[in-house]
Amino acid sequence: MPTPIVNLKDHERAAQAVLSASAWSYFSGGAADEITLRRNLSGWQEWGLAPRVLQDLRGGHTRCNLIGKTWPFPLLVAPMALQRWAHTDGEAGMAMAAAAQQCGMVLSHQTSTPLQSVAPLILAEPERGPLWFQLYWQSDKAYLQDLLQQVEAAGYEALVLTVDAPVHGVRDRERREGLHLPTGIRAVHWPQAQADAPHCSFTTSSGLCAGVANAAPTWADVAWLRSASRLPILLKGITHPQDALQAARLQVAGVIVSNHGGRTLDTLPDTAHLLAPIAAAVREHNAATQHTLNILVDGGIRRGTDIFKALALGADAVLLGRPALFGLAHAGAQGVAHVLRLLRDEFEMTLALCGCANLQDIQRSHVAVLKQHDNAYAQGAQGPV
Ligand code: FNR
Ligand code: LAC
Repeated sequence: MPTPIVNLKDHERAAQAVLSASAWSYFSGGAADEITLRRNLSGWQEWGLAPRVLQDLRGGHTRCNLIGKTWPFPLLVAPMALQRWAHTDGEAGMAMAAAAQQCGMVLSHQTSTPLQSVAPLILAEPERGPLWFQLYWQSDKAYLQDLLQQVEAAGYEALVLTVDAPVHGVRDRERREGLHLPTGIRAVHWPQAQADAPHCSFTTSSGLCAGVANAAPTWADVAWLRSASRLPILLKGITHPQDALQAARLQVAGVIVSNHGGRTLDTLPDTAHLLAPIAAAVREHNAATQHTLNILVDGGIRRGTDIFKALALGADAVLLGRPALFGLAHAGAQGVAHVLRLLRDEFEMTLALCGCANLQDIQRSHVAVLKQHDNAYAQGAQGPV
């Protein structure tokens, strides 16, 4: 009898069994020694929970507010390139599964499915999550303007500008295996001029991609993007509180605390520990101005308890990367739906078991640093930090 799949690790094993060595290295790998990749996973476990009992849980729900709108659940699928390489359902299956599970979807600039085919599959779903488009900055403004126009016309609700990958990371695993994209699978919106040497992700060379670095965006380009599109903008790849504040000053709608899933710069700290100082800075900024900067986080989220901890540490919502791809790889859209369902159920149980009826009830004091032999209750009892 096949082993039942009851958690995200089971999905990962099932994915590895069906993916080629090349695809596995691309989808699961990280930069260099993969220290950040591993830390992202262990970081959440270093926070302990400090539940409160006998709370009134009637009328509980998981609704969250993002960029001025209410959504059913604080989870989005992170932007990930080339999903048709994982499974023929690709980005279409990913989006439909996300919508069916009341989660959001961020379509990658390096999508292998046209952005115009993905949006109509889910836009009319009443209980779906947000639908956003992720962008890698390009110096060709005419290309950018044309793409932005397509993104807006298709109904995407925000732009996610990824700012942490002006050059490709040192990816040892990818270089060992080589990236052998199957025929017919490519980043369909990627600029034609770079088709031979697309984003450095697809090269097997260890050399830095000078062309990409020269075209790396600056704060001035963020301001240009704001003026070039009516869509709200989020910056993905923020790891420093000062950068979050700079983003706030530019009136962007949100920041995504992310180290790109440990795929770009190895030995960056884990996001479970990067989040709190950024959230504190942003909270102060939000209190002092009329502007609300949303905070999202990704990296290593694998359990409902991780989502709960992220919210307690100041995030408004979280993004899920690899596990969604793993579900897709071995079972298509259904696999993704199962991954998201598991997380939803685990999160709802955590919420109730911590004594919270909804997201507003989650406090900073529900988590405490868990040192060896320490117990979270003792610290949590001191009240909000
Ligand atoms: C990514 N990520 C990514 N980010 C982005 O902004 N644009 C992209 O096209 C991609 N592509 C991509 C491909 C693959 C295979 C992976 C695994 C990741 C990074 C992604 O959005 C997210 O930041 C991390 O994956 C989150 O970490 P976890 O959940 O995978 O640990
Ligand atoms: C990656 C690029 C596509 O992480 O963002 O592979």
